[in-house]
Amino acid sequence: MQQASNRYIILFAAAVCLVCSVFVAFAAVTLKERQDANAVLDRQKKVLIVAGLLEEKAKVSAGEVQTLFDESIVPRVVDLASGAYDDSIDATTFDQQRSLKDPAMSKAAPENRAGLTRVPLRAQVYHVVSDERIEQIILPIEGKGLWSTLYGFLALAPDTTSITGITFYQHGETPGLGGEVDNASWKARWPGRQAFDENWQPAIEVIKGLAGPPAEDPYSVDGLSGATLTCRGVNELLHYWLSEQGFGPYLERFRSPGSTA
Ligand SMILES: Cc1cc2nc3c(=O)[nH]c(=O)nc-3n(C[C@H](O)[C@H](O)[C@H](O)COP(=O)(O)O)c2cc1C
Repeated sequence: MQQASNRYIILFAAAVCLVCSVFVAFAAVTLKERQDANAVLDRQKKVLIVAGLLEEKAKVSAGEVQTLFDESIVPRVVDLASGAYDDSIDATTFDQQRSLKDPAMSKAAPENRAGLTRVPLRAQVYHVVSDERIEQIILPIEGKGLWSTLYGFLALAPDTTSITGITFYQHGETPGLGGEVDNASWKARWPGRQAFDENWQPAIEVIKGLAGPPAEDPYSVDGLSGATLTCRGVNELLHYWLSEQGFGPYLERFRSPGSTA
């Protein structure tokens, strides 16, 4: 076959594509287990960071993260509608994001202002435990900002309203503007604020401008300048996940005397 002929070029290109696709498929299959393990490790790290048990920029090995996680964090799966724990699902391997793709494990989102289109029926919560006592509850949160979906965790004290931490570990907001949701000094403004008002309605709000100290201004957090729309998204997503449609029933059970949620 002539090397410059159309047939030769097409066959050569097809052969290169075939060889490359075999390589890619082989890599995807053989690395899948490692990718899944890394995703779990990454989630564990984020949980430890929002719990204040790991510094954000700390250099730690996979083994150290695993040990710290196993020592102090207990994952649980919660049925969002009833707020009860669902121990029929292994909480250590449950993947809430993946469950959104399963029609049996998720549903179309009810009308909401957080930009959510599908929501899980069961969600993963984490208890930060010390001396067999629950010290914090960590809730996964997500919702639309200006450009992207923000994914994060909200940490609450056992009273279910005092905020102990917040983090947004994945988003596509503009660096320096909406991207400041992941700025350590902004996140440090949250601990000590109250998620709910005295009637147990979601009350926490990122405001435009500066908030007072937590004791005087418990429901407000400083706004991010030039990022009003991202901050609005943060408010909407927090209010959704703290509401009856989100973790409201679970948190109500948790704070009920004698409840095992
Ligand atoms: C290139 C570009 C990127 C922007 N990125 C964001 C963003 O990530 N989040 C946001 O809320 N506003 C962003 N804005 C600004 C919004 O368009 C809007 O002006 C801003 O939310 C108003 O906030 P302010 O009232 O605090 O100034 C961006 C604007 C431009 C031009």
